[in-house]
Amino acid sequence: MSSTNQGADGAYPLLFERSVPGRRGVLPPATTVPVAWNPERLPASLRRARAPLLPELSELDVVRHYSGLSQRNWGVDLGFYPLGSCTMKYNPKVNEAIAALPGWQRLHPYQPEQTVQGALQILFELERDLCALTGMAQATLQPSAGAQAELLGLLLIRAHHQHHDPAHAARRRQIIVPDSAHGTNPASAAAAGYEVVQVRSNDRGLVDVKHLKELVGPQTAGLMLTNPNTLGLFEEDIETIAEIIHAAGGLLYYDGANLNAIVGIVRPADMGFDIVHLNLHKTFSTPHGGGGPGAGVIAVTPPLAPFLPGPRVEYDAAKNQYHWRAAGPWTVGRLREFYGNFGVLLRAWAYIRSLGAEGLREVARTAVLNANYCRAKLQDCLEVPYADRPCKHEFVASAREVHRRTGLHAQDLAKGLLDRGFHAPTVAFPLIVEEALMCEPTETESLQTLDAFVDALQQVVHLAYTQPDELRTAPHRAPVGRLDEVLANRHLKLRWLPDPPATGPTAEGPTP
Ligand SMILES: Cc1ncc(COP(=O)(O)O)c(C=O)c1O
Repeated sequence: MSSTNQGADGAYPLLFERSVPGRRGVLPPATTVPVAWNPERLPASLRRARAPLLPELSELDVVRHYSGLSQRNWGVDLGFYPLGSCTMKYNPKVNEAIAALPGWQRLHPYQPEQTVQGALQILFELERDLCALTGMAQATLQPSAGAQAELLGLLLIRAHHQHHDPAHAARRRQIIVPDSAHGTNPASAAAAGYEVVQVRSNDRGLVDVKHLKELVGPQTAGLMLTNPNTLGLFEEDIETIAEIIHAAGGLLYYDGANLNAIVGIVRPADMGFDIVHLNLHKTFSTPHGGGGPGAGVIAVTPPLAPFLPGPRVEYDAAKNQYHWRAAGPWTVGRLREFYGNFGVLLRAWAYIRSLGAEGLREVARTAVLNANYCRAKLQDCLEVPYADRPCKHEFVASAREVHRRTGLHAQDLAKGLLDRGFHAPTVAFPLIVEEALMCEPTETESLQTLDAFVDALQQVVHLAYTQPDELRTAPHRAPVGRLDEVLANRHLKLRWLPDPPATGPTAEGPTP
């Protein structure tokens, strides 16, 4: 790390802290074209009293700042990233090359449809491919993430009940989620105005069907489930579960975050699901981004199609033309502007088309094989609950014994892995496994990488029993050491504010 980038105490200053009054980047020459824009025409109440406090820096300062930051970051292009539930697989560069073609880069969402036939064809084909893979009838590519898709799925559930049984729709106020569910499931249900009811897992790590039967009734709007579940186990009773929910008048929602285990092999529609969300940034290898842009496609069975947002692309075979079709009268409405994150959708299309049906099946088979390989090799050093049968694309180990004997937590082991050049597995989730370490190797890793990861985790467990203090303070070799996560959560600081000037008028802070 260059000394110009990092402070003496190892801290990485913000752009605001690097600012030097009067320093500039490039100053373009003054224009010779008359300026039509006159800020005086804005009402005084909307005009700033003084210029915003932006950092004053040279171009080189800014380049070094961001290049330095990027070197302190971790990503799949740098190393193994077994973050369970997140499917951090390699994003093939051919997707990037295709997305970078100038024809795509210069598109505008308001262009007339005759001039964007290629883009419409991509959206149409992607929707058809995703419907083929899920067994669903129609899909919207609009939502920007899995969590946003969940919200849309829940709005579709409500619209369906209101349409088919308006007299009783209001009493269908409950969404059932398993106790192993990802946090976004109950959060989305609550955000959609539903009451969340938790169904227990049984001693095999699967939905407790007996408990589910006790929970369902005329108050049930639906059940959100991922299969394989967050323990990486296939819900063997899925057909019974679907029957129970449907018999109670509810709908079955599939959280597709775990599709990597079954893509090309089993279709959620055949399992009895009515609505599916797909995180394209997981199974379909588009970049995760830092909070976006992503894509959380929603695909549905025919009865739910009239409620989807619009517009969607249709193909007119007689004219060999693609065109937009506006949403129908029962739509729940738009989720966002335009048609989704086109660049992300394009990458997913490229991924599906470059692998083909057999390639996608191979993805699932290899992802499952890699997870079982790592699980088998780790069983000597960590407990692995529910290991009486093969797992799917991920598995959850438990550091319970390490905790009992040393007081260390799963998180301490995870921090020790960072020092050995690996991203940590997901920790403390799912909630039903004590001291959980959830590993998802994905299909894109080599045997050598899997072996190196297993070795590193075995070393860390050994260290826990021999030199626990080293792990208590880990990581020691990462750009930042152990952070106070409780403090960071309780006192989130997302906005830089200037120190108040000693004299004179109060400085105006940067626009939030
Ligand atoms: C099982 C599961 N469901 C839903 C989500 C939410 O997806 P997103 O992060 O795209 O909002 C995740 C994300 O990690 C997940 O693992």
